[in-house]
Amino acid sequence: MDRTKICAFVFLLISSLTDKETCSATVATRMASSKPSVFLTRNDYPEEGVNLLKEHFELDTWNSSVGINKEELTSALKGKFGVFCSLNDKIDADVLKNASDLKVIATMSVGFDHLDLKEIKNRNIYVIRLIREPAGSEHFQGYF
Ligand SMILES: *[C@@H]1O[C@H](CO)[C@@H](O)[C@H](O)[C@H]1NC(C)=O
Ligand SMILES: *[C@@H]1O[C@H](CO)[C@@H](O)[C@H](O)[C@H]1NC(C)=O
Repeated sequence: MDRTKICAFVFLLISSLTDKETCSATVATRMASSKPSVFLTRNDYPEEGVNLLKEHFELDTWNSSVGINKEELTSALKGKFGVFCSLNDKIDADVLKNASDLKVIATMSVGFDHLDLKEIKNRNIYVIRLIREPAGSEHFQGYF
C-alpha cells in the first residue's frame, strides 16, 4: 500500500467526522468515548498513515496482513465507527447486521464487489474508495 494513498484515505476518513450526514452519529459516538473507533483489517498499513489515524481514532487492528475471515470481521466491527478494508474483505448484509454503529467504510480499492452497496446505502454508511481516471491517475471519492 503506498504512502500517498493511505494518507489520502486517512484525510477522507477524518473529514468524514465533520460531514453533515455523519455528524450527529459522530456526536453520539463521541459522547460514549473520547474518540470514535476504527477497525483496520490488516496490520501492514504504513506507520505514517496509522499514526495519523491514531490522533483522531481509537484503533483496533487485525493481527495479520493475510486477511480476516467473515466471522472475525463481524465480531470486530461491533461498536466500530469506521473500517479500513481492502478488496478481500467482504462486507455483506450479514456482516452489516451486527455492525450497527458503523458509519464509514474506507476501501483501498477501485472496485467494490466486496461491498453490499444496497445494504450500505440503507444504513446510511459513507463509503470512501479509490477512483481511477481513464488517463491512469488515481484519486479518492467519498459517497453514500
Ligand atoms: C489472530 O487472532 C486470531 C483470533 O484471535 C487467532 O486465531 C490467530 O491465531 C491470530 N493470528 C496471529 C498470527 O497471531
Ligand atoms: C451477531 O449478532 C448476533 C445477535 O446479536 C449474535 O448472536 C452473534 O454472535 C453476532 N455475530 C458475531 C460474529 O459477533
